[in-house]
Amino acid sequence: MKAVCIAIDGPASSGKSTVAKLLAKSLGFIYVDTGAMYRTITLASLNNNIDPKDESGLLALLKETTIKFGWQEDGQHVWMNGQDVTDAIRSSKVTNLVSEISMHPSVRQELVARQREMARDGNIVMDGRDIGTTVLPNAQVKVFLVASVEERAKRRYEENLSKQIPTDFEQLKKEIEERDFKDSHRRVSPLIQADDAQLIDTTSLSIEEVVAKVKDLVKKQL
Ligand code: C5P
Repeated sequence: MKAVCIAIDGPASSGKSTVAKLLAKSLGFIYVDTGAMYRTITLASLNNNIDPKDESGLLALLKETTIKFGWQEDGQHVWMNGQDVTDAIRSSKVTNLVSEISMHPSVRQELVARQREMARDGNIVMDGRDIGTTVLPNAQVKVFLVASVEERAKRRYEENLSKQIPTDFEQLKKEIEERDFKDSHRRVSPLIQADDAQLIDTTSLSIEEVVAKVKDLVKKQL
């Protein structure tokens, strides 16, 4: 079977990681959550009191930070220099700062290099903001997932409720909009649909329907 790379991009909470994980599982592919990598360097910057504007300080910190993924019974985990940071990188402090950290070109360059290395042997599903445009421009399958901000906030709100995380819906919606704005307007690798990516609006689709659509695209490549 030919090695295949699947790039899944889209705005915050558009269902990318849920779809990517299910796809990777059913195809037996590796899954790489690139957002988790930007979140990890953001957490490291908070832990080390690095100014979010200090690009060279952030790059130096990143160079000495290892980011590893692995599966455990309850799903995928992320380790930063050997420490399990799976939950810590999802805190609202990290979420509200990550777009400022991810706009620095040298931070992106370092993480993109690591992401390409992970994808070297193919058979990978990678999700993020710039996978189809920058990280894996030759990916055989590219999808750009979108959904209304109302729907995305609703999904995240329900997820938070199920985890017993107290959440204000309007505040959540505002934070999602702000993050999308920053991610779409940065100078380097902004969030944008690749010319050859398939747009899928997931607003009124179930996860299973989205996965089936992407699988159809994959089948054409095998
Ligand atoms: O996917 P997730 O919402 O966890 O991503 C967190 C943040 O990481 C995004 O809002 C964006 O600022 C940054 N990111 C990025 N490029 C990627 C993946 C994520 O800039 N490929």
